[in-house]
Formats: sequence, structure tokens, C-alpha cells
Amino acid sequence: MKILVTGGAGFIGSAVVRLAISRGHQVVNLDALTYAANLANVAAVADSPDYAFEQVDIRDRAALDRVFAEHSPDAVMHLAAESHVDRSIDGPAAFVETNVIGTFNLLEAARSHWIAKGRPEGFRFHHISTDEVFGSLGETGQFTETTPYDPRSPYSASKAGSDHLVRAWHETYGLPVVLTNCSNNYGPYHFPEKLVPVVILKALAGEQIPVYGDGGNIRDWLYVEDHADALLLVLQQGQVGRSYNIGGENEATNIDLVRTICAHMDQLSPQGAPHDRLISFVPDRPGHDRRYAIDPTRIRDELGWRPSLTVEEGLRRTVEWYLGNRDWWQPLLNRDGVGKRLGTG
Ligand SMILES: NC(=O)c1ccc[n+]([C@@H]2O[C@H](COP(=O)([O-])OP(=O)(O)OC[C@H]3O[C@@H](n4cnc5c(N)ncnc54)[C@H](O)[C@@H]3O)[C@@H](O)[C@H]2O)c1
Repeated sequence: MKILVTGGAGFIGSAVVRLAISRGHQVVNLDALTYAANLANVAAVADSPDYAFEQVDIRDRAALDRVFAEHSPDAVMHLAAESHVDRSIDGPAAFVETNVIGTFNLLEAARSHWIAKGRPEGFRFHHISTDEVFGSLGETGQFTETTPYDPRSPYSASKAGSDHLVRAWHETYGLPVVLTNCSNNYGPYHFPEKLVPVVILKALAGEQIPVYGDGGNIRDWLYVEDHADALLLVLQQGQVGRSYNIGGENEATNIDLVRTICAHMDQLSPQGAPHDRLISFVPDRPGHDRRYAIDPTRIRDELGWRPSLTVEEGLRRTVEWYLGNRDWWQPLLNRDGVGKRLGTG
């Protein structure tokens, strides 16, 4: 299958690109190369005859039309997005422009292409979204595919808007779409402004490890390569028009997660241990959702998918990867905003 992957130079998109190529698919990686992108993420497959790269912004409709005409993909996996909640608090415009208007452009370009090809039934537009569109949970309950949308940050509101557009393009125009809403990812190639790499790199540097609020916010953590595997499965076997929640079955408070990472650091990089002495509680993010939890029954029962790693094993692999790949992350520390406290409102 020839898959147009948007955002393929980012964290999750690059995991999808690497996995898709390894499974014999052809991939066109379309990415604007924003601050969050890194072509080193796809260096392992860049020389493959099955790989092509297009530096294109999804806000540019004419450029999208050219890419569809030149490459004629069988499917789209749409991951390009502004993705950092803290940045969405400081500058929401980019989130609306890329996540909402950009998705609209991509839907229209995909629809034109699909019509020009004679509306093939096998064509897919796979929209990759987040569990954050469902809002915040109390101490009990889980998000299912029928949980009402209740986004509470500019990021999650812009992703919710894009989800609605994708469903509307299916209902109104018949575009064969599938959607996925996933919990928090972690793993190799994670941009060093997100919690897991921040903790690893602060611990390594012997600097204070910032934890928002009381550290009691709960997330459902999924190893990025498990997510990529689930995404390819939904693309190929998901029912058209349907959405699938993807979760790791690994709920943890932020403080427990941070302590687990510190414990791995104590073993794998003992200098400076115990690393949890560096934990420092800082003022909370405004509107910080308290708890997310995914009910993965649908993807498990209908498609037979389960995560392969526990969070304990996945975090160990992730710490090992960061310790072994300084050349990857060191230059990223100089990018705009990295290492600074963002999104204080
Ligand atoms: N990270 C998570 O935990 C998580 C969880 C669930 C869903 N998601 C969703 O998965 C997708 C990928 O997330 P990620 O963490 O890999 O993000 P990321 O920030 O690492 O990567 C995003 C990529 O999109 C590209 N991009 C941004 N704006 C663009 C534009 N206008 N045109 C073309 N490319 C553009 C960037 O250059 C970057 O390579 C996003 O849609 C996100 O909402 C992420």
C-alpha cells in the first residue's frame, strides 16, 4: 500500500514511517519541518526506494494537491499537528491554523484525489487524534468511543475540531475515514519538551526535575511503537466511519511515573543517584486535566490488538535509548522554547 503520512518527521509519525517501511509499504512523508520535527527520526529508512519526503505545509492547499497528483497514495495517515499543550496556551493561533484549517485542507485535497481516482472503496483517510478531546475524568471511569467531547485546552479543542471535520467528511461526502484517539505516548525520538524526555535529561544533567502541581495528574501511558502498530492495524482492518480508542492499560500519576524514571536512571546511570532528590514541584498548568483513562475494549475485541509492553519495560527501554543517543537529543535542546517554562497562562 502507498501511504501518505503527514507529520512523519515528528515523534509518532516517524515511528509509523519506520514501521510501515519495515512491513513493505511505500511511504510518502509529508512534513513542514516545524520546531518539533527532525529528519534524523527517519534516517534509518530515508534511503529506501519505498520512501519519499515532501516538505509541505498542510495549510498550503495547492501544495497538497500537487503531492496527491504526483504520488497518488492509496491511503492517508494524518499525524501532522501542533502537539504541545503548554505551547497552545501561549500561542493558540498556530493550533487552530494547523490542526483545524490544515486538516480541512488535507480532507479537501484527499477528497478531490479520491474522486479523481473513481472513489475507490479501499481508499482510507486515517485521522490520528488524542484522548484529550474527551476532557478530564474523576477518580473512576474510562473514555469510550461514545464519551461526549469536552476539550479544555486550545490544543485539545483544536484536535476535537479536526475530529468533527473528519467525521463530517465521511457522513456528507462518503470519504472512507477511520479515526483513532490515543492516550499519552512515550519512547525513543520524543521531543525533549515533553514530560518523559524532560525527566530523563534533567536527571542526567543533575538539574531540578519539574513536576506540575501536586504530581497527582493521571495519564494512561503507551509505548510509541505499540501505538504505531495499532495505527497500521486500524488503517488496514478498521471499519470505515468508525473510531477506535487506543490505550496502554498503564495508568500512572505523573509523580509515580517520574519516580519510576528516576529509579531506572539510578540503575542505568548511577552517577548522581538517587535522582528523585531532584524532583521539584512547580505551579500547575492552567486548566490541567486531572485524569485520562482509555477503555480499549473496541480495538481489543474487534481487531485483537493489545499493547506489547508494560510501562515499566517501556520506560526502561526509553531511558536506555536516551542514554545511548545523545547525538540525537543534544542539538534539540537549542531549539526555540526548549528547557523554558511555557504555558503558565
Ligand atoms: N504525543 C502524544 O502523546 C499523542 C497522543 C495521542 C495523539 N497524538 C497525536 O498524534 C499526532 C502526532 O503527535 P506527535 O507527538 O508525534 O507530534 P510532534 O509534535 O512530535 O510531531 C508533529 C509533526 O507535525 C509536523 N507539522 C506541524 N505542523 C505542520 C503543518 N502545518 N504542516 C505539515 N506538518 C506539520 C511537525 O513538523 C512535526 O514533524 C498529533 O496529531 C497528535 O495530536 C499525540
